[in-house]
Amino acid sequence: MLDEVLKTIDGRRHQSLEMLKQFLAIPSVSTKPEHKDDMLRCATWVADQLKHAALEVSILQTPGHPIVVAKNKHAAGRPTVLVYGHYDVQPVEPLEQWKTGPFEPTVRDGAIYARGAADDKGQVWAHIEAVTAWQAHGGLPVNITLLIEGEEEIGSTNLKPFVQRYANDLKADVAVVSDTNQFARGIPAITYGLRGLVYMEVKVTGPAYDLHSGLFGGTVANPANVLCKILGTLVDEDGRVTVDGFYDDVIKLTPDERAAWAQLPFDENAYRSEIGIPQLFGEKDYTTLERKWARPTCDINGLTSGYQGPGAKTVLPATASAKVSMRLVPNQDPAKIAAAFERTIRSRAPETVHVEVHCHSQTGPVLVPRQSPGVQLAAEALQIGFGVKPTFMREGGSIPVVLLFKTELAVDTLLVGFGLPDDRVHSPNEKFDLDALHGGTRTAAALYQNLAKLTA
Ligand code: BES
Ligand code: MN
Ligand code: MN
Repeated sequence: MLDEVLKTIDGRRHQSLEMLKQFLAIPSVSTKPEHKDDMLRCATWVADQLKHAALEVSILQTPGHPIVVAKNKHAAGRPTVLVYGHYDVQPVEPLEQWKTGPFEPTVRDGAIYARGAADDKGQVWAHIEAVTAWQAHGGLPVNITLLIEGEEEIGSTNLKPFVQRYANDLKADVAVVSDTNQFARGIPAITYGLRGLVYMEVKVTGPAYDLHSGLFGGTVANPANVLCKILGTLVDEDGRVTVDGFYDDVIKLTPDERAAWAQLPFDENAYRSEIGIPQLFGEKDYTTLERKWARPTCDINGLTSGYQGPGAKTVLPATASAKVSMRLVPNQDPAKIAAAFERTIRSRAPETVHVEVHCHSQTGPVLVPRQSPGVQLAAEALQIGFGVKPTFMREGGSIPVVLLFKTELAVDTLLVGFGLPDDRVHSPNEKFDLDALHGGTRTAAALYQNLAKLTA
């Protein structure tokens, strides 16, 4: 039967792409309040497609954006697969750098360009197409539950209570998430590790209002100077993070893992020149792949203080603030790191200013057991989908749901992603390769068949 399903998928490349364009045209930017209606519109669009595939579909409200849950008829004795994806996307700024509009999906050079093309609408669409193809051939070989949320890009904060509340409905034997990358074009991959994330904001306040920098300069601690000085201490010359106790719980890379990664055909020069920097930088004594997959970081993500308009204004700013992210690796604990960060900042702040520290979101790192039966089945599915054996890799990004499924549902996740490393996710001119869309759709179809072999 899989052959028939794959034939249907192969014959629908054009229609599939046209539908994906509809999905991509909806500006579902979760972080912006002005897109609230677009979020519901997008959830409704997803729900409609799943209804067309004869699934039972609900659009469930949360304190934030709605979540779409869809199921086929679950039969006793069959394994249940929980497929997760997100329909929300990142903001598009800077808009002027897009060659074509971020919500005017455009095909060029074998890829579709739009915000969310790879992250994650294109990959969600691959699953919907695969489900639809199976349903057209007598039904899926597994029990399936799809959960498509709208707040991944803002930390999935409403998902935990949701998963707890619907734990019974979401019970599954294995979860599948397609929201990661292939290793490179022509080298599909299974991702077995993700970094965690703690996102902090620091605000330094000095005088009650902005001051003339001549009349007051030299007598008052400048919050911008103070903040810069503190931030400047967070990473040392060797690229090591100096937050107190930061590395206490970090698990060392094993020699086996280092040796395996050293064998991967990683083109460091291509990586560097694609980003457009003169030289790479990172923690001493680690390779680039080790730095991005298995070492923790601390980075300023936003920095604001003082006069930002054109020309000069002589002013001592009353406040300065920074957004700082820390990527975490096993076994760092996000709550512990957030607390350590706050303590470190306070201990380095002078008494001349007032300091506030706020945690926006946090999620832990994950490692998926490579030995679990699902992993082998996923590897075979990728081979059917792309015609090549996959490689195993970790990733530097974060996907909060993976840990939630583990802690709240006791379910392991297969990270089977179809993106390419140069898809420019979160950047201007995001794209999704059309061959990745097709190979991904085939992989999803083969994966459902393979996972039917799991014991329920
Ligand atoms: N899909 C990405 C994460 C990703 C991309 C993992 C490519 C591996 C390969 C996801 O949408 C994302 O951007 N996550 C955020 C999470 C955060 C907002 C909690 C991230 O990593 O910044
Ligand atoms: Mn994503
Ligand atoms: Mn993302």
